[in-house]
Amino acid sequence: MPEENVKTYTYEEIAEHSTSESAWIVIENGVYDVTKFLEEHPGGPDILLDWAGQEDATDAFEDAGHSLDAREQMKAYKIGEIAEEEKTVKPKAYDNIIRSRLGVLIPVSVVLAGLLVYTVIRLRK
Ligand code: HEM
Repeated sequence: MPEENVKTYTYEEIAEHSTSESAWIVIENGVYDVTKFLEEHPGGPDILLDWAGQEDATDAFEDAGHSLDAREQMKAYKIGEIAEEEKTVKPKAYDNIIRSRLGVLIPVSVVLAGLLVYTVIRLRK
């Protein structure tokens, strides 16, 4: 669902921001202005410039194995989203981490709840 008041951009506009003067990268359809972050990036400025002004860099971003901390940091650089009709990537990266944690938590809770019920029944006999 497109959020209200979020600025949207087309890839034609993204393409105009491919240099260290102005570097925009797209990750999961989110547009990030990383111009001021280039020199701070622990992976170096060049790799960001490789992706600046290009198509969605989600796969490269994921392949680098970015931490949750990096994902938090990137929020500060978000300037908008890719226009609905040009979106190419389904949001997954962050959700997957949350979901994979929930995916463990739910079965573990069910087993623990079962054990608790079993113990209570045994103790009552
Ligand atoms: C706004 C976007 C980005 C932010 C905030 C960001 C942030 C970071 C941070 C904090 C690290 C240190 C390790 C970690 O905490 O995961 C890192 C490492 C790295 N990043 Fe990024 N990054 C961004 C985009 C990208 C993109 C588009 C690429 C393209 C492939 C990339 C490639 C790498 C690589 C290769 C490393 C590993 C460096 C090493 O361990 O030697 N990053 N990044």
